[in-house]
Amino acid sequence: MSDVILKLNDICKSFFSVEVLHHVNLELRQGEILGLVGENGAGKSTLMNILGGIFPMSAGSIEFLGEPYEPASPKYATEKGIAFIHQELNLFTNLSVAENMFIDNFPTGFLGRIDKKKIRAKSQEYIDKYDLNVRASAKMGNLPMGSRQMVEIAKALMKNAKVIIFDEPTTSLSNREKEKLFKAIRELKENGVSIIYISHILEDVLLLCDRISVLRDGKVVHTDKRERYDRAGLIRDMVGRELTQVYPSVEKEIHDKVLEVKDLNCAGFVKGVSFCLREGEVLGLFGLMGAGRTQILRAVFGLDPKESGEVRVFGEEVKKPSPGECIHRGMAFITENRREEGLLMPRPVSTNLLMVKNEELAGSMGVVDTKEEAELCRKMVKTLDIKTARPDQQAANSLSGGNQQKVVMGKWLLKEPKIFLVDEPTHGVDVGAKYEIYRLILNMAKEGSAILVVSSEMQELMGICDRILVLSNGRLTGEVRKEDYSQERIMKFAL
Ligand SMILES: Nc1ncnc2c1ncn2[C@@H]1O[C@H](COP(=O)(O)OP(=O)(O)OP(=O)(O)O)[C@@H](O)[C@H]1O
Ligand SMILES: [Mg+2]
Repeated sequence: MSDVILKLNDICKSFFSVEVLHHVNLELRQGEILGLVGENGAGKSTLMNILGGIFPMSAGSIEFLGEPYEPASPKYATEKGIAFIHQELNLFTNLSVAENMFIDNFPTGFLGRIDKKKIRAKSQEYIDKYDLNVRASAKMGNLPMGSRQMVEIAKALMKNAKVIIFDEPTTSLSNREKEKLFKAIRELKENGVSIIYISHILEDVLLLCDRISVLRDGKVVHTDKRERYDRAGLIRDMVGRELTQVYPSVEKEIHDKVLEVKDLNCAGFVKGVSFCLREGEVLGLFGLMGAGRTQILRAVFGLDPKESGEVRVFGEEVKKPSPGECIHRGMAFITENRREEGLLMPRPVSTNLLMVKNEELAGSMGVVDTKEEAELCRKMVKTLDIKTARPDQQAANSLSGGNQQKVVMGKWLLKEPKIFLVDEPTHGVDVGAKYEIYRLILNMAKEGSAILVVSSEMQELMGICDRILVLSNGRLTGEVRKEDYSQERIMKFAL
């Protein structure tokens, strides 16, 4: 257990003369699962990108299996046996599982033809060896996210990876898929593979890891055995102070109906969904992955057509909901798929923040030109603690994952919508920022907005909602009021 196979010495990294990693030292032992946690922008992904040969380091050195390790490219890392499973998987959805596994190394037969049989057999062998439960011939795009993750693992194993890095692997997994992933990770460990596991879900880190390193502001502040850590201790090390309250308490009142949905049928399997949302209310929509939560939001907001049913906003029927129509009536929708749908990646943070607030800016070259706008941005950056030195210059795509999510949240918060639909508001966001997002949501409700929140974290919904609707297989199966909240009750409706 104690043989160190990978040693990072005094790693520093700067982007445009701003140092984001400061003399990081880290050791990984054979056959261990090392957790890596830290606030958004702490430097976790950057450190792993260096290890994976994606960015060069500015200073420092790395030893791997007793030899100098100089990752000049991802290829170098792979050849040495370090695999990196990114949050956005690098898989080709139009190819088969087997083709994906051999993508950078096709064995060719007669006349240079790809030997499909061979790659299929070889792939299946690896898949079965680790009991990953996918078919090598299946088309990648038809597999659920969990299975795609398994393919990435099989791919890493096929290349004989001795170290596998997981950067927030569970954000798009269902609970069952997550359990499978953890089982696979534990088996890898039994087979002597070393794992680095990055996540904001601290319960998972505590459950899975043998040791945990905490990164704060580009430095390793503490590394310890899992037994010596609990949730509060991890948070203390991450944020540098005690964080006692997880959910803010805000006094507010609930008034008239502002959104009514009647007998909604959509997406082929969502049937007869009816509910209403009131001014000042935070309403939760819970369901297991695939229950139809996102489909309902999309149909209400007019992103996808509904088959039938009625949507009323402030008492008036919206005959043909479309996003433009909905925004015009004071609604906003934050999609779960924020990376793809939410941001103008090459544009600065401030442009992104002001994008919906100033509709005239959207689509134009959007520069922040008034003092007032700059001040609004500054405030939002501060409130959500968006890690950026120059919001008017730093492009959104150079922010850390969690900070990008905060920008998407921030731009809609600035608009102060009257009816706010939010899908997974805190995915990938660190604990401190979660609290701020909850506080903003509750304060908006207090000011008279109505908020519908979809989340797969039941605790989160119980912490901020006045009421929770439960969805199962496209149908509403229950409604639980705050005074009756219990995990068992909600889960019973969801199953
Ligand atoms: N390509 C880049 N150009 C400029 N700055 C960058 C670039 N990539 C990362 N950074 C900066 O480096 C810092 C660390 O970012 P990193 O992505 O490593 O954080 P993280 O710990 O992975 O956070 P998260 O939990 O949000 O994913 C951030 O301040 C980020 O803005
Ligand atoms: Mg990251």
